Amino acid sequence: MGIKFEQVNFAYQGPDGQKYLALANINLPIHETGEFIALIGETGSGKTTLVQHMNALLVPDTGSVTILGVKVTKEAVRKKQIKLNPIRKKVGLVFQFPEYQLFEETVLKDIIFGPKNFGISDAEATARAHDIIKVVGLDESYLSRSPFNLSGGEKKRVSIAGILAMEPDILILDEPTSGLDPMGRDELLTVFNRIHTTLNKTIILITHDMNTVYRYAKRALVMRSGYLVYDGDPRALFSRNNIDNWNLETPDILSLQQAITAELGLKLPHIAHTEEDLLAMLEAVLS
Ligand SMILES: Nc1ncnc2c1ncn2[C@@H]1O[C@H](COP(=O)(O)OP(=O)(O)OP(=O)(O)O)[C@@H](O)[C@H]1O
Ligand SMILES: [Mg+2]
Repeated sequence: MGIKFEQVNFAYQGPDGQKYLALANINLPIHETGEFIALIGETGSGKTTLVQHMNALLVPDTGSVTILGVKVTKEAVRKKQIKLNPIRKKVGLVFQFPEYQLFEETVLKDIIFGPKNFGISDAEATARAHDIIKVVGLDESYLSRSPFNLSGGEKKRVSIAGILAMEPDILILDEPTSGLDPMGRDELLTVFNRIHTTLNKTIILITHDMNTVYRYAKRALVMRSGYLVYDGDPRALFSRNNIDNWNLETPDILSLQQAITAELGLKLPHIAHTEEDLLAMLEAVLS
């Protein structure tokens, strides 16, 4: 079933009543399982707006978003013809700014809020919280702390824990690794990748880090000024010339390959995916 955007347009309304177009004619299918999608594009291009349509936090002005079989349109929401709560349980969205997601006195209460809201018992939700806090790389002593007295990176981890605790079918992360140190970033990416590979869950990750896109994503979506301008293989994306037009950086491994091949005057059989891949090709060519 997944999520399907059909001819979606959305504009924010300014205080003067003026409309600012944020999504323009979006058509996009996403499968419920098995996808690891990187959503990229320059600042203000509409990434956050797009994912907020995926769990009906925002509703299209025209067109529809069908989420796990529920067709969300402006009219259906206005007439209260559809229930949005079950959608929000199944499509977990970790906000770009964790402050918007944290509001309880303790980290524990914050993490169990979602599951309890969806009918999980206090005891089970608490047990989940004790497991999940470790999954996001914090120890159990954090559970009794106030979420407001944590560092930015710790807040981010707690907000991710709160969404994981709901065990969503589809997990959407809006810049989950921004503001983290490189080790924390790699640790969390490993967690997301594990959730994806072991549970076969669809993950949608917004990021400005092209190394992450290149290494983990199976599919890349590029937004530009409210339009979806690319939907396809990440490797094919970076081997095209138009990434400059879209203000995207080249992943380090590609820059490295370009530098080495130019310096040594070599031609390698394909574009490297990982450092190991590049080394293997160099060994083969140079031996
Ligand atoms: N609440 C709002 N009211 C009015 N305009 C908004 C609002 N939120 C976003 N916009 C505008 O909509 C457009 C898309 O914003 P969006 O937040 O989706 O971009 P983004 O791609 O997530 O950017 P970033 O990488 O900076 O997070 C931008 O032009 C932005 O200024
Ligand atoms: Mg954003």
